[in-house]
Amino acid sequence: VRVVKAIGIAGSPRRTGNSSTILRAVLRGAESAGAESALICLNDLTFRGCQGRERCAPAGECVVRDGVGPVFAALELADIWVLASPVYFDGVSGQMKTFFDRLHWLTTEEGKLKPRLCGTRHAALILTYEDRPRDDYSKLAETLGSYLGWMGDFGVVRVMSEGNLGPSDAASRRTDLLASAEDLGKALVGELKHGTPRREAGE
Ligand SMILES: Cc1cc2nc3c(=O)[nH]c(=O)nc-3n(C[C@H](O)[C@H](O)[C@H](O)COP(=O)(O)O)c2cc1C
Repeated sequence: VRVVKAIGIAGSPRRTGNSSTILRAVLRGAESAGAESALICLNDLTFRGCQGRERCAPAGECVVRDGVGPVFAALELADIWVLASPVYFDGVSGQMKTFFDRLHWLTTEEGKLKPRLCGTRHAALILTYEDRPRDDYSKLAETLGSYLGWMGDFGVVRVMSEGNLGPSDAASRRTDLLASAEDLGKALVGELKHGTPRREAGE
């Protein structure tokens, strides 16, 4: 039986901050349902923004060579993507936005919109923020989630939008949040196993 692979992308510079803490709980939940997981902290990587030259369309890959390159390969192999970011000025963090822009190559072929990822994946988007109540930034997460559909077949995209958290270690004390994050991770694996399996490259 093929092992389900989950990849977590942390968009916060705070390694043990709120969004990364919830992200790790989702990955723990996925692991408890039998998945393998990997965590990438974008802040550890040196990478540039999309250069907008559209050279990826004919090339079939991002032509900017820098620290984010190996993450693309890991994303292609992963069945479950979990993206987590703090809200900065009503958007995602600069790290997450810059990373997301670099995924443009997954959306186009021969100059036309075409999802390049093979097979079915599931995803979760996690946002944490301070000043507004839970779910207030759901729309922001849903917008990002809808762009995943430009990259491939994302059967399920779940959202966690958690506000009024307080200090950066607040999520680690919210056992309710951590439990729902673990449940979410478990559910993503379960839904994937009972849905269409992802095709292996070359199939
Ligand atoms: C540059 C910056 C901008 C922020 N902008 C917002 C904002 O627009 N709305 C909000 O509710 N919180 C805002 N915050 C608070 C963070 O979203 C909040 O502390 C979040 O829980 C941090 O998540 P993290 O611990 O994963 O980094 C901002 C924080 C920073 C540092």
